[in-house]
Amino acid sequence: MCGIVGAVAQRDVAEILVEGLRRLEYRGYDSAGVAVFSSEHALQRVRRLGKVAELANALEEQAVHGGTGIAHTRWATHGEPSERNAHPHVSGHIVIVHNGIIENHEELRVELMGLGYEFASDTDTEVIAHLVHHEQKSSPSLLAAMQKAVKRLRGAYGTVVVDSRDDSRLVVARSGSPLVIGRGIGENFIASDQLALLPVTRRFIFLEEGDVAEVTRRDVTIYDVNGDLVEREEKESDISHDAGDKGEYRHYMLKEIHEQPHAIGQTLEGRLGGDHVVVESFGNGARSIFEQVQHVQIVACGTSYNSGMVARYWFESIAGVSCDVEIASEFRYRKSVVRPGSLLITLSQSGETADTLAALRLAKASGYMSSLAICNVPGSSLVRESELAFMTRAGAEIGVASTKAFTTQLAGLLMLVAAIGRCRGNLDSAVEAGLVKALQTLPQRIKETLSLAKQIEALAEEFADKHHSLFLGRGDQYPIAMEGALKMKEISYIHAEAYAAGELKHGPLALIDAEMPIIVVAPNNDLLEKLKSNIEEVRARGGILYVFADEATGFKSNDTMRVMNINHVEEVIAPIVYTVPMQLLSYYVALIKGTDVDQPRNLAKSVTVE
Ligand code: M6R
Repeated sequence: MCGIVGAVAQRDVAEILVEGLRRLEYRGYDSAGVAVFSSEHALQRVRRLGKVAELANALEEQAVHGGTGIAHTRWATHGEPSERNAHPHVSGHIVIVHNGIIENHEELRVELMGLGYEFASDTDTEVIAHLVHHEQKSSPSLLAAMQKAVKRLRGAYGTVVVDSRDDSRLVVARSGSPLVIGRGIGENFIASDQLALLPVTRRFIFLEEGDVAEVTRRDVTIYDVNGDLVEREEKESDISHDAGDKGEYRHYMLKEIHEQPHAIGQTLEGRLGGDHVVVESFGNGARSIFEQVQHVQIVACGTSYNSGMVARYWFESIAGVSCDVEIASEFRYRKSVVRPGSLLITLSQSGETADTLAALRLAKASGYMSSLAICNVPGSSLVRESELAFMTRAGAEIGVASTKAFTTQLAGLLMLVAAIGRCRGNLDSAVEAGLVKALQTLPQRIKETLSLAKQIEALAEEFADKHHSLFLGRGDQYPIAMEGALKMKEISYIHAEAYAAGELKHGPLALIDAEMPIIVVAPNNDLLEKLKSNIEEVRARGGILYVFADEATGFKSNDTMRVMNINHVEEVIAPIVYTVPMQLLSYYVALIKGTDVDQPRNLAKSVTVE
């Protein structure tokens, strides 16, 4: 999705802006642009279709100078990816960048054309530029013009505006798309994600819904949705400065897969007593809420949804609490019945996914007893707007394909299941102690599984020329098959479907032939015998199987079956451990196919629009 960087300083800011855009590249985009202002120079705007590197090259040939500037990476929604649709957009002296979608852009466009404005792009953003320009004619300041303009907008925006006649200030507004102000000494910055500004500051103010702010070199003045002057807390970021570096790894995705033992260790740190989960890890007041929980409703998208699907098995079998899981984009538009004592749990790496956020807002108004976010980004909208929050501490995840965020979410969810189970009186302390012990072994178990990387790389060779694939699992491994299939399609572009293995004979068996690889996750659990029968159903029809199995299952490689042995792990953590070979398989297949692993086509890291 789009990225924003802005600066108001006394030094040349073009470099800072471009570096900020580079750090936002992982979000996915198709064009980039920058506008820099100074009292000596007229507006200097450079835009390019394609990567930030193209923009940087253009800036080498056409240097821009000035202490104030705004920059943007665009992920096309309205209007094709092209230079003319790239931001910043201009209306006279008003220059603007915008993230989000303006839903009433057509009606505003007609109105503005009636006022004599001509449009130079097909974007919805350009209506904001003209609207601010128009409102400025009857306003005492740019800030007042912005406050009037945003009242006319429906939809989502994080936007920054500059009046090119006055390079001393940026005016920004946020509704539905995140914006953060970075505080410097004698200079200030703005970005859609703090990651963009880490080279220049660690002090951040997160704008809230409806905020409009004026940012000068010295001051930040913020007005809330009612136009009242407000103070927003300044926070020190603990994200590491080099979070955006690939280090020794060829891709962020590979680096992040290998970071999982550390990320899970961090997520557990300080949250496990000797034999129990520390309930307060989920926030002040968690205990009294958990004691009353009668039902859990999980809402999420994509990979985060898959982790919710695993948690459903755990909630019902371990905590004795009923649980539903729903994709946020469905949940938010469906009339649903709220069960008494329902806790809403949202899961999200970014904490800014538009559908998940909308689902939370809807739920808050629909009678849920409370809300809990399990999230990887401190200060994100989801965290700020939920009553309880649990941070997964995976560190910045840059690869579009979510890996360490998923396994740390699962670790957090397992702790939550134990905490709720105990608070409800449904979890025996010996069972909880066993679960805690299993969680403590998790970083080491993942490390062992990562050592299969070379073997999985070899396996990927057989896989890479296929066009379709089927992933199978049963019980709490069914969502792991779903996650395996999602990773495969997302980065290798091979069509992949996941099925609960017991469902094969109800349709998908018709697809089986030697051209359809079948991937199976097979720990040694109660469902093993059932799974073995399903595997036989596939073999009998000429299917080629790739089985990731606990040694004790007795599977042996032969002509139609490749077996990859996974060290035995405690059953409860097996879904987390078996995720790792799925990630590695899709990574190595994508590598052979030569796709853009970290930024797969048509996808964005953080889906901040509907
Ligand atoms: O930031 P979120 O966890 O809310 O993102 C949800 C999905 O967009 C995300 O998990 C997506 O499915 C991943 N790219 C999958 O790898």
